Amino acid sequence: MRVLSLLLAVVTFTSSATAIVRWAGVNEAGGDFGSKGGVYGTDYTYPTKSSVNYFASKKVNVIRVPFLWERLQPNLNQALNATEFGRLNAIVNYATKTKGIYVLLDPHNYARYNGQLIGSSAVPYNSFKKFWRLLATKYKSNGKIIFGLMNEPNTMPTEQVLTAMQAGVDGIRSTNATQLILVPGNAWTGAHSWTQSWYGTSNAQVMLNIKDPHNNYAYDMHQYLDSDYSGTSSSCNSPTVGSDQLATATAWLKTNKKRAFLSEFGFGANPTCYAAANNLLAYLNANHVWIGYTYWASGPMWGNYIYSVEPKQGGDAPQMTHALNKWLRKHK
Ligand SMILES: *[C@@H]1O[C@H](CO)[C@@H](O)[C@H](O)[C@H]1NC(C)=O
Ligand SMILES: *[C@@H]1O[C@H](CO)[C@@H](O)[C@H](O)[C@H]1NC(C)=O
Repeated sequence: MRVLSLLLAVVTFTSSATAIVRWAGVNEAGGDFGSKGGVYGTDYTYPTKSSVNYFASKKVNVIRVPFLWERLQPNLNQALNATEFGRLNAIVNYATKTKGIYVLLDPHNYARYNGQLIGSSAVPYNSFKKFWRLLATKYKSNGKIIFGLMNEPNTMPTEQVLTAMQAGVDGIRSTNATQLILVPGNAWTGAHSWTQSWYGTSNAQVMLNIKDPHNNYAYDMHQYLDSDYSGTSSSCNSPTVGSDQLATATAWLKTNKKRAFLSEFGFGANPTCYAAANNLLAYLNANHVWIGYTYWASGPMWGNYIYSVEPKQGGDAPQMTHALNKWLRKHK
């Protein structure tokens, strides 16, 4: 008994000491830039090898790669555009196969195609299912892929988000792909508003009804550290704003035995925000219902964007120096 309880104590200690996230990384944006169409390399682009190399040197093990649904599939229900898929696929293969980094695929479409909501007569649920069936067919044998169903559904009934996202899950699983799927909610999938209802029925109530035959999904949430959580200003209200705003979603995840991935968070370059970011990242690593996070954002086309962590002249951005450097390498 004595030996056993000592052993249990050791096991318990070990498991809490290693209660860190599975995935830690960044968004590498650019494939989502411009309106559909646009000139490749001028209006939009996919991550560069040098950027992937830089983040590999920071020990990230996941990059989220945004792209536009309409570019990849110019005609609804039809084949993927081979040229465009080839561009995306080149960097996906480089990251996953050459560098061994997970790629989180992100149709950055706000639950819309050509501005029409999934579930409208122009964009039936089944079209979204077909889109994911096509994309998952391409990647079902690549174990380093994570399927992010959709970026930030908003301004629609939460019940419609559920039906749309279920169609996405069904499309992926119809290929027998088994990889992790990230499921967003309504209201830009904000963690702080997960249990609120100003946007319709709460995500907490509706999104619990998602069904995955492989039970390999996590909720996809976003949380910015600026005062209205919109990711548009460089100020942070307090050093604990991130963990404060994640508290209700975290409690909900624990109660319901679910997990989540924070696929967007961002903060300005100033001391209060650095403190808030360090606090947020410590919180995510300590609460194991959170399985991963990707910072918003890096990418070659940001210019002087307030949250950009794209290295300039090879040097780290201040957010990297003062917060991310310490945490991006913390993953299993
Ligand atoms: C396919 O993508 C290429 C490159 O973006 C583009 O030039 C071409 O027009 C697209 N094809 C269709 C049918 O949209
Ligand atoms: C998925 O697996 C089932 C059972 O093995 C098989 O019958 C089916 O053909 C597979 N589907 C695809 C698209 O590979």
